[in-house]
Amino acid sequence: MGKRVRKAVLPVAGLGTRVLPGAKTTPKNLLNVVDRPILSYIVEEARAAGIEHIVFIVGRGQAAIEDYFDAIPEIEQALAAKGKTDILEDLRRDLPEPGQMSFIRQMAPLGLGHAVWCARHVIGDEPFAVMLPDMLMMAKRAALAQAVDAYEQKGGNVVVVEPCPPGEAHKYGIVALDGQDGRLNRMTGMVEKPAPGTEPSNLFISGRYILQPEIFEILETQERGAGGEIQLTDGMFHLMKKQDFHALEYEGTTYDCGDKIGLLRANVAFALARPDLADAARKAINALL
Ligand code: G1P
Repeated sequence: MGKRVRKAVLPVAGLGTRVLPGAKTTPKNLLNVVDRPILSYIVEEARAAGIEHIVFIVGRGQAAIEDYFDAIPEIEQALAAKGKTDILEDLRRDLPEPGQMSFIRQMAPLGLGHAVWCARHVIGDEPFAVMLPDMLMMAKRAALAQAVDAYEQKGGNVVVVEPCPPGEAHKYGIVALDGQDGRLNRMTGMVEKPAPGTEPSNLFISGRYILQPEIFEILETQERGAGGEIQLTDGMFHLMKKQDFHALEYEGTTYDCGDKIGLLRANVAFALARPDLADAARKAINALL
């Protein structure tokens, strides 16, 4: 078996145009779902999958992300002085151990493939995870942990996929499979944002990947693809000529928090899943309906 997956890349530099004006001065992945920023859930998922180091790929105006994962002594002292230890613990829950997070600037918005490539020096020569933080995944066993399980079983590269709502394949990366038997299948192809009617299956790439470091050499010279951007999907398609790729349909539910209604659904679903809030949330929602 290959090396263990220890590091995850979180490309967060996107502009968040679908969740403006909320994302105008707050990076979109710091918008709240219930009472925590989206990134808090993503970091928790990464930890549940055994990830020891997170590499954020950030853009200009996103220093708040780095601040969020730092201690804030004034607030901590005030909470301690008032004996509010539960809030204090909740606040500290998201903090990394010193040295467990890196922040890299993507200096130009050239695409997801370029964002991932920006992490090459920190990742080095080992397999790594990519997590698209817009996609919030609720699952009994963390979605990324399911991807790591699949990687430990098959080696190579693993891409998490799920059925695409009818008529929406052109918005996503779509995979082609070598037959379908269960949830984990060998891939034979993939295409980013296929023209309507040309998609090779109904399974879209939903935002969790385990990749081998050879992807970096490919991304280095990857030409621009769909939307004029350097696409991760195109890079993976090249790597597939040399290495195996498996598609995993994970068990759980995905909420696209880069979208207004997706963010609303996530808020409702995560509130209803919280033992301390479920009853009050259900009452409040029923009253509105
Ligand atoms: C990116 C990926 C695409 C994937 C999608 C999931 O596209 O390139 O393959 O299906 O995320 O959200 P984007 O949403 O950045 O256009």
